[in-house]
Amino acid sequence: MLRANQKIYTSYAAAAIAVYLLFGPLGLGHIPFLPDGISSSFSHAGGNTRDGGIRSTSPETDKLLSFKASKIVNFAPGYTVVENLYWHNYSYIFVTDQPWHIPKHDLIANMHVDTRIPFNGHEEIKVYGIRMPPVSPEVKEENQIGHSILLDEAIALFGRAKELDSPMIINNDDNFVSHYYHWIGETFLGAWRTWSNYAWRTGLTLPNIKVVAFTKQYHKAEAPPGSNGANWWEDAPGANKWFTSKFFPGVSFETKPIWQERADSNEYYLIPLALIADRRGGHNGPSHAWKPWGDALRLPVSSDWLVNLRDRVLSDYVGPINLKKRTKPHVMYLERQGSGRELVPQDHEALMKAVLQVDEDGLADVTIKAFSSSIPFADQVAEISTVDILISVHGNGLTHTLWMDPGSSVFELQPAECTVTDYSPLAIAAGVQHYLVHETSFCVPEECPGRGCPGPRAINRDDIRVSAHVVTDQVRRIIRRMNKA
Ligand SMILES: *[C@@H]1O[C@H](CO)[C@@H](O)[C@H](O)[C@H]1NC(C)=O
Repeated sequence: MLRANQKIYTSYAAAAIAVYLLFGPLGLGHIPFLPDGISSSFSHAGGNTRDGGIRSTSPETDKLLSFKASKIVNFAPGYTVVENLYWHNYSYIFVTDQPWHIPKHDLIANMHVDTRIPFNGHEEIKVYGIRMPPVSPEVKEENQIGHSILLDEAIALFGRAKELDSPMIINNDDNFVSHYYHWIGETFLGAWRTWSNYAWRTGLTLPNIKVVAFTKQYHKAEAPPGSNGANWWEDAPGANKWFTSKFFPGVSFETKPIWQERADSNEYYLIPLALIADRRGGHNGPSHAWKPWGDALRLPVSSDWLVNLRDRVLSDYVGPINLKKRTKPHVMYLERQGSGRELVPQDHEALMKAVLQVDEDGLADVTIKAFSSSIPFADQVAEISTVDILISVHGNGLTHTLWMDPGSSVFELQPAECTVTDYSPLAIAAGVQHYLVHETSFCVPEECPGRGCPGPRAINRDDIRVSAHVVTDQVRRIIRRMNKA
C-alpha cells in the first residue's frame, strides 16, 4: 500500500515536473498537485514562487547590489544630493543602471557660471548607464542616455575608486563666491535648503557635513599672483569661512589645488554622500527669478532649519550681547550712512528720531547700530537674533535676516523706483515678514513690482529718501499685534 502510494506520488511528481518544464519558461510554471511547501521550495531554485512573485537567482544581482551605484536622493535645480557620486578630472560621474533618473545635466552642474565659455568636448556631468549589449547593430550608441557600460566593466573601473570623506558640500562655481551674500545667502543657502528638505521628506537624521569643497576656487592665501575675488572663495571680512566653520565644527575645506592634483592623478574618486551646489544650475531652473535658489526655496523644510545653524553659531557665545529674550519688542535700525548706499542725511535723522520715539513711548527697546567689519560676526549674529523688527537700507547687512526668529519683521529701504529682490526671498525663507519701503509707501513681497532699478547708479545711490512715519506707523502696528498675542 505504502509502496503503491509512493509510486503514484512519484508519477504525479514526474508529470508535474513535465508540466513545469513545459510552462515554466512561459511564466506559467507553478507545479500542480504538489503540496505548497514542496512546490515553493522547488520553485525557489528557479526564481518563481507560487504566490509571492519572482526573485532573481542570477549571481549578477548580488554583484550589482554590492556595487556602489550612484543615486540622486534629493534634488532641486542647482542642488543635487547624491549617494555614490564619482569624480574624475573635473567631471561628476553618475554610474547607474537607471540613467533615466538623472535630471537635465545643466540643472546639476555647469563647467562655468558664464555659459558663454565653450566646453571644448568636456563633460561636466558624465553618466555611465549599466546595460547589456545592444540587440541589433542598428541600435545607436549616440541615442543612449550616457555611455553604455557592462556591469563587470563598471565594477572594474569604478570599484577601485578612492573614497573621499563625506558628507561633502561641493560648490561648483568658478565665480561669485567671495561675498557673504553670494556664498551664505545664495549658494550655501540653497544647498542647506535642499539638504534640510531631504531630512524633512525622509525623516532621516542626516550626518553632519564633513567637507566643503571649492573645486574651482582658491583660498585667498594660496591664490596665484594676479588672482582676484573671482578666483577665491573667502570674502574680505572673512564671513564665509567663519560662518561655514561654525555651522560644521571640524569641517575641512578642499580648494582647487587639492582637486587639481586629483584631476592630474587620473584616478577615479568616490564621494559616498555629496551635495553639489551649482549657481548656474539654479539659474537654469524654472523658478529662478534672477537667483539660484528659486526652486530650492520652494522645497518644504521644518521651521527651525536656519535656527539650527544659528544655534551652532551661538553655541559657545561669550560676547557682550545678552541673548535672553527681552520683555519688550526689540527694534533695530541698522544704519549704513557713509557706505555710499545710504539715505539723504535729513531723512536718516528723521528716521532715527521717529524710531527712538517708539522707545520713548515705552513700546519697544530701540537700538541704532552700524555693523562694520570691526564688530565680530558672533556679536552681529547675537544681536540680530534678539531683534524682532529690523530696519535697514538695501545692503549686505540684510543677509543677517537669516538669523532672525521666524515671525519677526524686516523693513528694507530702497529708492522709490527700485525693487531689488535680493533680500526679500531670504526673509521669506527664514519665515520673517518683509516690507519693501519705497519712500512714501511699502509693499510686501507678493505684491511688490517686478525686479528692476533704472538709472545709471541703479541701487547704489547715496540720495535714497524715506518718509519716516511710513516705517514707524507699521512698526507700531506690528508691536500692537505682538502685545495682543
Ligand atoms: C583632464 O582633462 C583635460 C581637459 O579636458 C585634459 O587636457 C587632461 O589631459 C585630462 N587629464 C588627464 C589626467 O587625463
